[in-house]
Amino acid sequence: MFLLKSVFHSALSLAVAYAASLNQVTNFGDNPGSTNMYIYVPDSLPTNPAVIVALHPCGGSGPEYFSLYDYHTPADQHGYILIYPSATRDSNCFDAYTAASLTHNGGSDSLSIVNMVKYAISTYGADASKIYVTGSSSGAIMTNVLVGAYPDIFAAGSAFSGMPYACLFGAGGASPGNTNQSCAQGQIKKSGAQWASFVHNGYPGYTGLYPRLQVWHGTADTLIVYALLGQEINEWTAVMGLSFTTNETNTPLPNYTKMIYGNGNQFQAFSAQGVGHFVPTDVDTVLDWFGITGTLPTSSTSISKTTSRTQLPTTSTTAISGCVVAEYGQCGGIGYAGCSTCAPSYTCEQLNDYYFQCL
Ligand SMILES: *[C@@H]1O[C@H](CO)[C@@H](O)[C@H](O)[C@H]1NC(C)=O
Ligand SMILES: *[C@@H]1O[C@H](CO)[C@@H](O)[C@H](O)[C@H]1NC(C)=O
Ligand SMILES: *[C@@H]1O[C@H](CO)[C@@H](O)[C@H](O)[C@H]1NC(C)=O
Repeated sequence: MFLLKSVFHSALSLAVAYAASLNQVTNFGDNPGSTNMYIYVPDSLPTNPAVIVALHPCGGSGPEYFSLYDYHTPADQHGYILIYPSATRDSNCFDAYTAASLTHNGGSDSLSIVNMVKYAISTYGADASKIYVTGSSSGAIMTNVLVGAYPDIFAAGSAFSGMPYACLFGAGGASPGNTNQSCAQGQIKKSGAQWASFVHNGYPGYTGLYPRLQVWHGTADTLIVYALLGQEINEWTAVMGLSFTTNETNTPLPNYTKMIYGNGNQFQAFSAQGVGHFVPTDVDTVLDWFGITGTLPTSSTSISKTTSRTQLPTTSTTAISGCVVAEYGQCGGIGYAGCSTCAPSYTCEQLNDYYFQCL
C-alpha cells in the first residue's frame, strides 16, 4: 500500500512538472519597442509547429490576454506555439502611430514582435509559413500594422475592433487617452487607393501576397467607431484587389454578418449587430481561418497562396530549418514530418491533404 501510494505521488508530481505554462522570454533578440515576450509551448509539438501571436488591448498585458481567451487548450490539442507580447509604453498600447512601427524593419513594437516570431522559429523550428496574428482593440490595430509592414512574416490575421494600417500615423499616440482621436472617432476617411499607398510605403518594393485577413467590428462601438470597419475594408480590399461578393447573415453567430470579398479565402469582414467595444474573440472561427482546425478551402488558387508563404529571406529560412526541399519534393501533408522549406524560387503547394509538393 505504501509503495503504491508513493508511486502514485511521483506520477502525479511528474504530470504537474510537465504541464505547459505561459513563460516570459527575456533574451529573444533586438527589442526596440521594449516589448515583453511571453510564450506558451505545448508539451507535445509537431516538427514544424505553427505560431499564433495574440495581442492584448490597451492597458492590458500578454498574461492577461492569455487568460481572457482560451487559445492554449486547442494549442495542446493541435500543437501550435502561442506568443503573447506585452506593450510597456503609452498606457500599454501597441505602437501603431510612429513611422518606425509602421515601416518594415523600422523598429519599435512591430519589429520587437517580429523578433519574437524569429526566436520561436529558431528555438522551436516553427514553420515560417504558418505564422498568424490576432488581437483585440489595440491588439487589432497592431494586427493591421503587422499585416501591412510585415506581409512576408505573417500568413494570416484576425483583428477584433481595430483600425486600418496607418490610420494613427501622425496622431502622436495610440491610446484612448491621447488628445487626437480623429481616427478612433471615424473622422479619417480614405479611398482604397489612398490606404493602399500607405500600405505599400510601409514595405516599399514588396511584391508578394499580403496575409489573409479577417476583421471584426461591433455596430455599437463608441471607442473605435463602427465606421472604422468600412475603412479597413477599403484598405485591404484595395491592397488585395478584391471586390464585394456576398453577405452571409447570422454567421458565425446570431446578429453577426459575414461579408465576403473575392472568393472569401483572402479577406472577410464581420459586422456584429449591437455589439460594442470590443467584439469578443470567437476562437473557433479564428483557428479555422488560420487553417489550424477545419479545412482550408480546397481546389482554389488561394490555397496555394496560404501554404506557399515561405517568404522570409531564403538565406535565413534555410539557416533556420537547416533543410531545403528540391523541385517536386514533398514539403508537407498529414503525417509528413520532414522539411517544409522549398529551394529558392519554388513554393510549397498543397496537392491534397496528404501531399504538398515544391513547385
Ligand atoms: C491627428 O491624427 C491623425 C492621424 O490619426 C493625423 O493625420 C492628424 O494630422 C492629427 N491631427 C493633429 C491636429 O495633429
Ligand atoms: C452586407 O452587410 C453589411 C453589414 O451588415 C451591410 O452594411 C451591407 O449593406 C450588406 N450588403 C448587402 C449587399 O446586403
Ligand atoms: C439580435 O438582435 C435583436 C435586435 O437588436 C435582439 O432583439 C436579439 O436579442 C439579438 N439576438 C442575439 C442572440 O443577440
